[in-house]
Amino acid sequence: MAKIKVGIIGTGDRGTSFVKVIQNEIPELEVVAVADTNFVRLESVPKLHEYPPCEKFTSVDDLLNSNIADVIMVSTSVCTHAEVLVKCMEKGYHVFCDKPLAINPQQTKQILEAARKTKKMQFMGFNMRYNSQFIKMHQIIEDGEIGSVLSGTA
Ligand SMILES: NC(=O)c1ccc[n+]([C@@H]2O[C@H](COP(=O)([O-])OP(=O)(O)OC[C@H]3O[C@@H](n4cnc5c(N)ncnc54)[C@H](O)[C@@H]3O)[C@@H](O)[C@H]2O)c1
Repeated sequence: MAKIKVGIIGTGDRGTSFVKVIQNEIPELEVVAVADTNFVRLESVPKLHEYPPCEKFTSVDDLLNSNIADVIMVSTSVCTHAEVLVKCMEKGYHVFCDKPLAINPQQTKQILEAARKTKKMQFMGFNMRYNSQFIKMHQIIEDGEIGSVLSGTA
């Protein structure tokens, strides 16, 4: 089966963890391109963390226009999510975005409008919802095994 080609925008802490998870745990995906506006990071982070061979772009537009990725994962600084996500969706890419979505209601609205219009926003990364320990805790509570939950701390 052909792998889904992923482009990652933002090669910081989260972008790097996406690369590692894809490389080590999701055989259906392959990282084919990364983009980061910070040239130093774009060069040094993939080397330091041994990214798989992939195309590197300092311009988000160049990555999107290259058409080498099927889908995009956005892991840039949160203040840039609206600009980057809207651009990706309007270019026709399905996008995954790390949380949080945006920094204010205006940007959130902008993203949601583009998502509604293009139907390309696939997922917002509340990754802990898929953590097996939390799934188990949720199940225990749902099943009533420990009675009513009266308070919680994070
Ligand atoms: N680090 C975490 O534990 C964590 C956890 C949950 C969510 N997040 C979210 O993930 C996102 C990234 O966090 P991080 O810790 O990886 O940050 P980071 O600062 O390590 O990395 C962000 C990268 O995005 C790049 N960037 C910024 N604007 C860009 C643009 N317009 N185009 C391309 N690249 C751009 C920066 O140069 C940087 O390399 C944030 O939204 C953050 O809230 C982070």
